[in-house]
Amino acid sequence: MDFDFALGKDPNSEFHQSDEFQDIKGMMHSRLVDRIEDLGTDFINWTPAMVKRFVAQEVEGFTSTNRMPLNASDIQCIVKDLTDELIGLGPLEGLMADESVADILINGYKEVFIERNGLLQKSKIRFIDNKHLMRIVQRIIAPLGRRVDEGSPMVDARLPNGGRINIIIPPVALNGPVVSIRKFRNKALEASDLLAYGTMTDEMLDFLSKAVAARSNIVISGGTGSGKTSFLNMLAQFIPEGERIITIEDAAELQLLHEHVVRLETRPAGLEDVAEVTARDLLRNSLRMRPDRIIVGEVRSGEAVEMLQAMNTGHDGSMSTIHTNSPRECLHRLEMLLHFGGWQGSELNLRRQIAGAIDLIVHLARLPNGKRRVISVSEITGVQDEVISMQEFYRFEPNLVNGQDGWVTTHCQPVSPKLKRVWDSAKARYEAARERI
Ligand SMILES: Nc1ncnc2c1ncn2[C@@H]1O[C@H](COP(=O)(O)OP(=O)(O)OP(=O)(O)O)[C@@H](O)[C@H]1O
Ligand SMILES: [Mg+2]
Repeated sequence: MDFDFALGKDPNSEFHQSDEFQDIKGMMHSRLVDRIEDLGTDFINWTPAMVKRFVAQEVEGFTSTNRMPLNASDIQCIVKDLTDELIGLGPLEGLMADESVADILINGYKEVFIERNGLLQKSKIRFIDNKHLMRIVQRIIAPLGRRVDEGSPMVDARLPNGGRINIIIPPVALNGPVVSIRKFRNKALEASDLLAYGTMTDEMLDFLSKAVAARSNIVISGGTGSGKTSFLNMLAQFIPEGERIITIEDAAELQLLHEHVVRLETRPAGLEDVAEVTARDLLRNSLRMRPDRIIVGEVRSGEAVEMLQAMNTGHDGSMSTIHTNSPRECLHRLEMLLHFGGWQGSELNLRRQIAGAIDLIVHLARLPNGKRRVISVSEITGVQDEVISMQEFYRFEPNLVNGQDGWVTTHCQPVSPKLKRVWDSAKARYEAARERI
């Protein structure tokens, strides 16, 4: 019998989650650790099968000597968990291996949430105590050359398989160690996936992909986890082959299929006087690398200044994402980031810089049912009365027809000659689609 403990399908799972059961497991764990210490270096050379056999013998011996009221499935559960513990990631082992789990969010040892199919749910998994959780965390980040302790209680790192991990521990985290893991998808979402998920329509994809090929500067905005990076990755595939693309990211997530891609990743200030390398440093450097396109994974700080300058001065066709709740807020946030980056000119020039740099804002949202949708595709048309003006081509509306969600295609015509060419090239198709609504 092999229970799926990670998914909590074990019929005894109530008991297996109980404090009593965790105490028994904790006791056996310390006993195992003592036994391994006695064995010394020998243990290191053991294969996983040997470790499993050893754990099984120890657990069975211990439970029968101490006449513990445990049945075969309890013992099997303990053996599996303790084996994972000794050779892998403990309770996280199953979740890391489960392809359908996208995010793992741990708020202290007793609370583990997972995201599956866009929905966040509480998992039955738990750790023995916060010390146990910390041991697993240290095991994950040690090979990455990172350390987390009271002195430096926050770590953000990329996992060897491309996923991301963020750790924040007491005293700054009040729930105990808080761990957020975004798992890596073996295969990035493609345009066909996003169409199938209903994230956008064919028509939008047609327009946006042509806008990318025509070197429009595009910002993808949206809240946390709304699918910005995935959307950027999907759109960037429409950059024509043969162009030199430079990507700049805090944690390298983009997976471009082009032949000519240079990938740069920022570096936090680290141990032993390792100097910080910011996105701004990388962006400045990338401008000297003869890029055709610059893709900034997420603009979140002073690099906004160089990014907009690049977009305005010959590196058009650049793209980025930004964390905001609406397209209009995206502009406010850019203004704020430019000030933060030391913008010296007037407020009006700052707005002109933004309006001149960005052609399109694609805004995404994750709806309460977990689905990601393009909420708006807007063109930045200029500055009027000192305010940046924009017009919307597509807008998502809940309850559009008979209670069904859908997109409204407005009657706006692009103002920028570049977008107008793109729009006109497929005009007949769009007009036909517009009439349907
Ligand atoms: N259109 C989509 N439909 C379904 N799932 C999606 C979609 N886009 C992204 N996802 C999934 O949602 C999760 C978050 O995606 P992504 O990293 O692209 O979001 P993000 O907005 O960039 O997040 P963050 O705010 O952390 O930067 C991933 O697991 C991804 O596979
Ligand atoms: Mg992202």
